[in-house]
Amino acid sequence: MKGIILAGGLGSRLYPLTYATNKHLLPIYDRPMIYYPIATLVNAGIDHIMIVTGGPHAGDFLRVLRNGTHLGVRHLEYAYQEQEGGIAEAIGLCANFADGDDICVILGDNTTDADIRPAVEEFSGGALLFLARVPDPERFGCPVFDERDAKRITRIEEKPSNPRSDFAVTGLYLFDAKVFDYISRLEPSARGELEVTDVNNFYLNDGTLRWQELQGYWSDAGTFESLHRANRFWAAQRGWSSADESD
Ligand code: G1P
Repeated sequence: MKGIILAGGLGSRLYPLTYATNKHLLPIYDRPMIYYPIATLVNAGIDHIMIVTGGPHAGDFLRVLRNGTHLGVRHLEYAYQEQEGGIAEAIGLCANFADGDDICVILGDNTTDADIRPAVEEFSGGALLFLARVPDPERFGCPVFDERDAKRITRIEEKPSNPRSDFAVTGLYLFDAKVFDYISRLEPSARGELEVTDVNNFYLNDGTLRWQELQGYWSDAGTFESLHRANRFWAAQRGWSSADESD
């Protein structure tokens, strides 16, 4: 399986922090944000990785990541997304890189301590979504479950005003090679983007979408609140406590 990390966008929700660099290079405690999704992939045995970036600070990634060997990456590629065309458009730029293999996609502002290696090793085609319970599902893609079968997803809604459960679709996905065909059939959404939620609904309709609950901590970091939350969690993970504040 190959890995894809999406690290484009303008990060406008974090202005002025992102005036001078890409969001995914901002610190989460003692590391640049993008180190975390790289570690999630490398720990799962995925060391061929493509980073899709964009915006005015794309060149900053080379200075931080170089060829990735210091992070356990064996093969690192970069792609440049010209416009804010959406997550699915960004994945579509990776078709040659994937070259028929399964892919694991992670949004570059998502951090988790979950071990996805078993899911990666057991993956047998279709799509696998990782869901997490959150207090604010309306900020995310949200599953709608079958009323008669609480484990069966009937559709996924993108940022619904009335979420039908407290699960969010995290920005962590396993896809087989069909994903590129589905992306080529997408139409832009109301916000003018190719939506990963529409890709997931294609898999749902062909009966090959599965899901599991992500075991452990998960957060995005694209807003001040979630960036702060991620910093608090990872600082505590590394042994920082408020008692250190007098240092
Ligand atoms: C994106 C996806 C959404 C998903 C979320 C996870 O949202 O569109 O379905 O739940 O990432 O972080 P966005 O980052 O565009 O707000």
